[in-house]
Amino acid sequence: MPSDFTSRQQPLRVSIDELRKTFSGKVIEHILNPRNMGEFQAAGGIGRASISCGDAMQICLKVRNDRILDISFMTDGCGPVIACGSALTELVKGKTISEAMAVDEDEIMASLDGLPDSETHCATLAVSALKQALVDYLALKREPWKRMYRQIDPFSSNR
Ligand code: FES
Repeated sequence: MPSDFTSRQQPLRVSIDELRKTFSGKVIEHILNPRNMGEFQAAGGIGRASISCGDAMQICLKVRNDRILDISFMTDGCGPVIACGSALTELVKGKTISEAMAVDEDEIMASLDGLPDSETHCATLAVSALKQALVDYLALKREPWKRMYRQIDPFSSNR
């Protein structure tokens, strides 16, 4: 009879073995150790997007001289979208705004060694949130006074 410890570990091992049948090692690694997850207190651009499955993602940017110094993501979505958000932050950090605008689903999926067809919309969600954050950064750059309205946004707790 397995010890308590062994019997508790078994379901996790089985589920990771199941994941390996469907996802690449890189996807699983990003799911288990997501990079840059969280949000910034004073982000230079914030983007939020949702998709038909009902999941959402938020991206926060720190930008200086049109170069992305830092980026974070949050999501309430599935494992693959965690992997996509995590991979996206690694792809985008250090890029200029225009270089980041060119990042697409294919680049995210390539960096993850692919996703099953049924999960490609997870990469689409990550790209949509990034584009919203970039648009937000450009809007604030053009009209910095809009930041004042963010500080009194009753729906935002962390801007
Ligand atoms: Fe909704 Fe992955 S299933 S984003």
